Amino acid sequence: MTELVLDRARIRSLFDLRSDVYASRGGMFDVDPYPTFERLRATGPVHPGAPHEALGWTGDVFFQGLPYPGRPHFSAYDYETCATVLQDDERFVTNVPPLAGEPPLADAAILFMDGKRHRSYRRLVQPSFVPSRAVWWLNHWTREVAGGLIDAFAGDTRADLNTDFCAPIPLLTITGSFGITVEEALNVREAVTSDGRDVATLARLLIPIIAARRQEPGDDLISVLVQEEMTDEDGVVHRLSDEEVLAFAFLLLAAGSGTTWKQMGITIVALLSHPEALAKAREDRSVLRSVVEESVRWTPTDPVFSRFVAKDCELAGVALPAGAIVHACLAAANRDPLRWDHPDEFDPFRPPNGHLGFGFGPHVCLGAHVARMEITHGIGALLDAFPDLRLDPEVPAPKFIGLYERGPDVVPVRWGVES
Ligand code: HEM
Repeated sequence: MTELVLDRARIRSLFDLRSDVYASRGGMFDVDPYPTFERLRATGPVHPGAPHEALGWTGDVFFQGLPYPGRPHFSAYDYETCATVLQDDERFVTNVPPLAGEPPLADAAILFMDGKRHRSYRRLVQPSFVPSRAVWWLNHWTREVAGGLIDAFAGDTRADLNTDFCAPIPLLTITGSFGITVEEALNVREAVTSDGRDVATLARLLIPIIAARRQEPGDDLISVLVQEEMTDEDGVVHRLSDEEVLAFAFLLLAAGSGTTWKQMGITIVALLSHPEALAKAREDRSVLRSVVEESVRWTPTDPVFSRFVAKDCELAGVALPAGAIVHACLAAANRDPLRWDHPDEFDPFRPPNGHLGFGFGPHVCLGAHVARMEITHGIGALLDAFPDLRLDPEVPAPKFIGLYERGPDVVPVRWGVES
């Protein structure tokens, strides 16, 4: 396998929750939010205000449903109510006309579409993301990337897996699937993380690839997008325009490179801190599937998603006016004691029970099976290469930080020498 050597300093700045890039997501927040979530859930499923207010955060926030200062905000904290918000796309929608002074939504991306329009656009890419397709992603991109990254640091005895492994795997998998070179991958990450959404950089990189695939399709995601046909509401069939392909690409590149990275870090830290689970995973790699699922339940990297209230309605006995925003706190719902015993514990051996870490309902995560594959394959490859992989005892233990995006600050590990 060829060693994959990337600009570490640049990865470190682009994939560090404490850096400026994540300031508006509350990346510096370093308090455990779960005791507050538990108190709120125990005192009623729906509360006025947004989760960051309940947690005492006074900094800027920019995320789905935020900041929108001109609208009333409510938050749900139990499983049943959060599942209702995500499932009921008649009362709770992702797209409404902006009020005076509000920026327009990026409504060419499926995350901001509702109803029939959402279903018909999502259907175009769904076949590339079904469970049986995970092996296509693995064989085309993820296996080679994981192997190349391990080869680059295997000669050492320690690494920060956050920078050296967790960040590049999903980035290079999703950029690879768009035909973007390794050299340009970090420029893409920078373009999709900026709050200002640097569409110009993405267009510069992707328009030539779109044109080439229109001429001669290949075995990649951009070829899927350029060949798909859409039927308009007036029955006219057409292929996706360059703008539509770019909108899809923007969302997939952002979602694909910004989530799995942190969830992989959370999973590695959890696994290496639980000797029984680690011993079983070393013996039998299939255990990693439940390890990953439990990690997404226990500490989902994106703890909150939101909806606009489409019409005056009631949610768990609380009256919500049309135009309000309701935040579904998936992280709190995932520890609802009505659904899980000892919910605060990371226990990969608990009986499986659907959680909300990948969302639920019409917008349920499109990339969930790709993410599961990336994390299970990545950790399996690490355990194969370093049978005695462990958290580095000589540096401070990793800490989960962040408000609207959560993950470990670092993932320091050792192998091969006594410590
Ligand atoms: C562990 C990693 C991941 C987590 C925890 C995660 C979580 C989520 C959640 C909670 C949603 C629902 C948002 C909502 O209801 O408003 C979502 C949607 C989405 N995710 Fe993921 N995601 C992950 C990885 C990925 C990857 C790897 C991709 C792409 C390759 C991806 C693409 C998407 C897309 C396109 C949507 C929007 C779907 C729609 O609106 O129909 N995600 N994700």
